[in-house]
Amino acid sequence: MRSLIDILDFTTEELDELIQVACDIIDNPDKYSEICHGKTLATLFFEPSTRTRLSFEAAMFELGGNVLGFSEAGSSSAAKGESVADTAKTVSCYADIIAMRHPKEGAPYVASQVATVPVINAGDGGHLHPTQTLADLLTIYREKGRFNNLTVGVCGDLKFGRTVHSLIAAMSRYPDINFVLISPEELKLPSYVKTEYIKEKNIPYTQTTSLEEAMPKLDILYMTRVQRERFFNEEDYLRLKDSYILDTEKMKAGKEDLVVMHPLPRVNEISVAVDNDPRACYFKQVLYGKYMRMALILKLLKEAGTIK
Ligand code: CP
Repeated sequence: MRSLIDILDFTTEELDELIQVACDIIDNPDKYSEICHGKTLATLFFEPSTRTRLSFEAAMFELGGNVLGFSEAGSSSAAKGESVADTAKTVSCYADIIAMRHPKEGAPYVASQVATVPVINAGDGGHLHPTQTLADLLTIYREKGRFNNLTVGVCGDLKFGRTVHSLIAAMSRYPDINFVLISPEELKLPSYVKTEYIKEKNIPYTQTTSLEEAMPKLDILYMTRVQRERFFNEEDYLRLKDSYILDTEKMKAGKEDLVVMHPLPRVNEISVAVDNDPRACYFKQVLYGKYMRMALILKLLKEAGTIK
């Protein structure tokens, strides 16, 4: 049974296919509006979410399907001690496909090993968030028209920011990529991510604590929130939370065709005034996420033989 746990579960050719399907859905939504009639998506969210859960649900509705699920662990039998594996086996009896978010790294993988339907990792702890990367890739494709020859700056909480880990994994497969890693010392990219996706492939990268210094070089600036929920103490969070604030003054140093992205939610790291800048693409990114999740649901249900 094919699932999506890590963005690298799909080849670059498969990602290209998903992007082409998403673009076709954007142009011809009626063609897709009944494909999942009678099929059900379960959204099992053990952690808070606005975009990922609601975009999965909107995606399934726009494909003509049904949705069931829960949006917090406390309203499921996890609160009584039920395991992720038993939850996945149970929900396989009610749904054709599962999207799961969980605070524990690896939980969606465990679910995928026992479920009898495809499982999609909708974010596992500080580890990975492959469907956010699908949204990110479509944004880059629509805004830049290419995945090669780009200087990609990632800024903020690179330690706990799972969206950054998945994005770096995906972008490291394209030629002529250059990463600029912008973070405070305490929130640097984990060494396993740097080694596995950047160093082993000899991808050029620089590390800096200065967003101002990096700004003029970037084709893409991917801002991230400091992940309060992953900190062990509030004092460290409060000290680091406003390390980077992208404002209209800093935007002046950016290229004319810079693409500013953010997986959202935002707290303080991009000032609201930047939203009016045509280079701010983070709300387009939200919309693209729905189309990529539609394409993903179609792919996994077709591979499972659930739809034609
Ligand atoms: N980008 C993202 O995962 O947002 P939510 O936490 O709102 O789902």
